[in-house]
Amino acid sequence: MEYEQELDMAPKKFSLQLWRRILKLSRNHWRELGECMLMLALLGITESLPPLLTRYAVDRFVVARDTSTLGWFIALYAGLLLFNFVISHRFIQLSGHIEWGVNYDLRAKGFRKLQELPFSYYDRMPVGNLLTRVTSDTAQIGEALGWGLVDFVWGVFFLAASFIGMAALNAKLALAALVSLPVMFAISILFQKKMIVSQRNIRKSNSAITAAFNEGIMGARTTKTLVREEMNYEEFSAQTDIMYRRSIRGAVLSALFLPIISSVGAIVTAFVLTEGAGLVLEGVISLGTLAAFMSYITDFFEPVEHIASIFSEFQRRQAAAERVLTLLDTEPDIRDSREVEELFGDNFRPKKENWPPIRGDIDFEDVSFRYKDGESVLSHFDLHIRAGQTVALVGATGAGKSTIVNLICRFYEPTEGSILIDGTDYRQRSQLWLQSNIGYVLQEPQLFSGTIADNIRYADKDAGMEEVKRAARQVNAEGFIMKLENGYDSQVGEGGNRLSTGEKQLISFARAILHNPRIFVLDEATSSVDTETEMMIQRAIEKTLEGRTSFIIAHRLSTVRHADRILVIEDGKIAESGSHSELIAARGRYYQLYTTQFREERSMDVLGKKG
Ligand SMILES: Nc1ncnc2c1ncn2[C@@H]1O[C@H](COP(=O)(O)OP(=O)(O)OP(=O)(O)O)[C@@H](O)[C@H]1O
Ligand SMILES: [Mg+2]
Repeated sequence: MEYEQELDMAPKKFSLQLWRRILKLSRNHWRELGECMLMLALLGITESLPPLLTRYAVDRFVVARDTSTLGWFIALYAGLLLFNFVISHRFIQLSGHIEWGVNYDLRAKGFRKLQELPFSYYDRMPVGNLLTRVTSDTAQIGEALGWGLVDFVWGVFFLAASFIGMAALNAKLALAALVSLPVMFAISILFQKKMIVSQRNIRKSNSAITAAFNEGIMGARTTKTLVREEMNYEEFSAQTDIMYRRSIRGAVLSALFLPIISSVGAIVTAFVLTEGAGLVLEGVISLGTLAAFMSYITDFFEPVEHIASIFSEFQRRQAAAERVLTLLDTEPDIRDSREVEELFGDNFRPKKENWPPIRGDIDFEDVSFRYKDGESVLSHFDLHIRAGQTVALVGATGAGKSTIVNLICRFYEPTEGSILIDGTDYRQRSQLWLQSNIGYVLQEPQLFSGTIADNIRYADKDAGMEEVKRAARQVNAEGFIMKLENGYDSQVGEGGNRLSTGEKQLISFARAILHNPRIFVLDEATSSVDTETEMMIQRAIEKTLEGRTSFIIAHRLSTVRHADRILVIEDGKIAESGSHSELIAARGRYYQLYTTQFREERSMDVLGKKG
């Protein structure tokens, strides 16, 4: 299945098949759903009874002035009310259960899927979109099943029972009511459609305005320096203008709907009243029967609206259902083969007892690679690294350095050729095996809400406080941690946004060290800390990296001098390879890069001191 590129908000034709799949996914709630529908069917029937009671009351108590059965009548009425109350209570309980249960199940499934999907999936999917899928989309489906579906059942039973009641009383009058039904349905459906379109337009406008706001705020500084305020304001006004017009249209539409439906109702009422009155005078029906009819017809509109709205309701939520299903249907393009899974387990049930120990030899054998729909990044790339070596990758932006380490981590797989870990193609091992043995520190480190200590022991929940502190000390992070109000127990905020990027890097460093992996990947990992801190980390990790295979990508060449091997990457190829002193002696690309950077840093220093 292809990852979809964009999400269409437009409701398509109502798709029964889609909802059948959603129903199947909600198997856990079938019993509740069944019971709930039964309750509503009962409720629909019992709620159609009062007109019959009215009829009895009018004929007996009013016309015949006989109140001998009044006690019974009141008891019966009270009993009916009580019965309805009990059933309503139960149905609301059940609906709530279904709504949240379905929502929860789909969220859990979606979340699990997201954990399973490879890194590359997130290249294509904006995070905002994914969040919508696992939150509001699933909630919409829950509501549709919990309330929409059962509403429908109620409407159908209420209408049907009312009709049977009417037909039993007088076929001719019942027929008049029956004729009005299609008209009401047609009007309801027409309006529903128009209102959906109108609401969708309003929502579109609204998100355009939100986006404009967002950009206006986020980009305030840029806007000011580029003197774009005037233009931005004009664009913004145009958007709000559209929003205003669309909202008015929506309001007019919904203001029209009820009066029109009521008019149809009034016409039917008038007809039944005149016809009925004649019949009463002729003595064909009693006054009570006429009263019953009037009350049937007054209550007519509600179920019609409920039934008419179900399709548009489900159609409106169809986009949400589609999005959730597409997520659940997404097949990861990197996955372990069945044999591998059998032997080494999957992400949720790893069979660690079968995992071979890892040494850390890495070989690229004639690897070619391109990103999906991208140009070729590596072609026929060979690289052989013995366990324990520290390898530095340097080179221009876009040269392919990150791509190489992404391949090592198996965030992507080679398009051609193979990557061997300890002499075996890594596709013959489980992803989890490799990834549990790799420590990956990125330029934009990812922290999670929680405390500093939680974040350091993120991958190793059982690590004690002492281990956490040792890891932090090793990367010289303790200094800034102790300055925080609660030390290791300080909250880092959502995504770690209460810390500076450099501080986040230090924390993710400590996290990688605590995890004690055989292979270390540092992709611009120290680019956001100052030079002095970088030097300190450098000294600290040199010890840590000893005996482990490690890859360091850095723009600041002073930090990679001590690597066993430095590879200069150019256009996805190794342009030069050797130790610092060898490459300097060779006076090639590396020498150029190094001396230029060195000179720049020197002049920066001098300028800094002057200013
Ligand atoms: N997810 C992706 N999808 C498509 N193309 C990509 C993706 N990531 C990188 N590329 C492309 O692959 C090429 C190599 O990118 P890569 O990120 O490996 O460069 P880099 O050497 O790490 O650069 P930098 O120093 O800026 O981090 C670039 O041309 C880039 O545009
Ligand atoms: Mg990179």
